[in-house]
Amino acid sequence: MSAENAPLTVDAQKRAAAARALEFVRSGMRLGLGTGSTARPFVEMVGEKVRAGMQIVAVPTSEATRALAAEVGIPLTTLDETPELDLTVDGADEIDPALTLIKGGGGALLREKIVASASHRMIVIADESKWVSVLGRFPLPIEVNAFGLAATRRAVERAIADAGLHGSLSLRSGKDGHAFVTDGGHLILDAALGRIADPQALADRLVTVPGVVEHGLFVGIAQTAILAGPAGVRIVERP
Ligand code: A5P
Repeated sequence: MSAENAPLTVDAQKRAAAARALEFVRSGMRLGLGTGSTARPFVEMVGEKVRAGMQIVAVPTSEATRALAAEVGIPLTTLDETPELDLTVDGADEIDPALTLIKGGGGALLREKIVASASHRMIVIADESKWVSVLGRFPLPIEVNAFGLAATRRAVERAIADAGLHGSLSLRSGKDGHAFVTDGGHLILDAALGRIADPQALADRLVTVPGVVEHGLFVGIAQTAILAGPAGVRIVERP
């Protein structure tokens, strides 16, 4: 098999999805820049375009993406200066056929949801391993306020049970062994639920818990998915 025909590695798939998403970027756009290992090559490619003269401004979805975007020369703005964006491109942990997503594996779900929701269009980019028929194999990240953690945890367990689901919650740890802290100063509970048959029903219950800041279910936010597999790229529009 020649190198040209060899199946794409997962890293190459991520770059292929990012490259396809770049074709949707036009000069003059206000962009949201996602977080994670799939969004990263997209940010680097946008940087190349900017250095070649493309005029865009961008809002990063995390401090990590802010640092990368600054490094590659992308002019940055904020949602306070630029409250409406044209396009956000971001990765996901799981994508179902309705283009409902689980996000937050990297802990950036709050800013990711705020930025995507302020955008006219969200394109999710991923390798095919993220495509699932039913969400839930990936533990659902739930961002919570540190105040009252044990009480919030119980309330989240009740909300999950009310949605007809079962599973365990675990407080996410950081690399230092201490609790992982998000860019917003919050904690993350990861809910291993196995199968989320009705994501909207679960989302509706989670938002009623006072200590929950945000959850990683993105329902009705992404319009387009760009999925790259070993053999190439496909585009799926939300039904
Ligand atoms: C960051 O918090 C996440 O929502 C990422 O977008 C998601 O985890 C996908 O990351 P990868 O592209 O690294 O798999």
